[in-house]
Amino acid sequence: MDKIYLGTNWKMHKTINETELYLKELNKNLNNIDFNKIKLFVIPPYTSLNKARKELVDSNILLGAQNMHWKREGAYTGEISPLMLDEIGVDIVELGHSERRQYYNENNIDINKKAKTALDFNFTPLICVGENYEAKKYGISEEMIRKQLKIIFNNIKREEAKKLLIAYEPVWAIGEKGEPAKPEYAEKIHILIRSYLEEKYDNMTSKNIPLIYGGSVNNENALKFLTRTNIDGLFIGRAAWDVESFLNIIHKINFFKYNS
Ligand code: 13P
Repeated sequence: MDKIYLGTNWKMHKTINETELYLKELNKNLNNIDFNKIKLFVIPPYTSLNKARKELVDSNILLGAQNMHWKREGAYTGEISPLMLDEIGVDIVELGHSERRQYYNENNIDINKKAKTALDFNFTPLICVGENYEAKKYGISEEMIRKQLKIIFNNIKREEAKKLLIAYEPVWAIGEKGEPAKPEYAEKIHILIRSYLEEKYDNMTSKNIPLIYGGSVNNENALKFLTRTNIDGLFIGRAAWDVESFLNIIHKINFFKYNS
């Protein structure tokens, strides 16, 4: 893939004020970035989305939300609807992050419904899949990921699938207690995802859906993932919450892209 996707999920971090400071600093330091080659995105919490939209108005950085309900409106206390996100003008909606599955019982059927709605609203669904520690331990990672894909992609047509981003995020690799996947292991799973997409759609569609890796990515290991042919980008948590640290990763990857 000629483009690298680099994004950060802020999870439950940053107030509106912190969002403003972070994005001003980020915008100021991207002058030499080739946006044809690097697609940047940030995914703040809901309360910061409006401020973030304003800060990113003249920038090439895409804005995402961390979740969304599949219904347009209704009696769903505490939920956020696609209409609300549409009004703000988000580009991406992250769906099925493992923390949503783990702590809020979100399942593949919910994620499938959310993906359909996100497509109807012209958002780019960023679908997260990945096996947990137990599946890895018992050697059933591939089965678990295929099951996730089969349900999440149910009734998603080829033309719709082309608009998606997929993040492979092994649960055991995420967060402070996580261990980053070995790049060759991550690539093996990316190849599995690609072959599922090829089976369901076709070779071209499968090749054109960006597959990004997330789980304890940092400045030291970022390039090791990106030198793998089937890894099209990185989805970063902790190592991008400090703007300097995110900028260091972005510049390192930009340098690599210029020289490769
Ligand atoms: P960490 O980079 O902190 O492991 O988080 C990754 C993640 O969950 C991205 O969605």
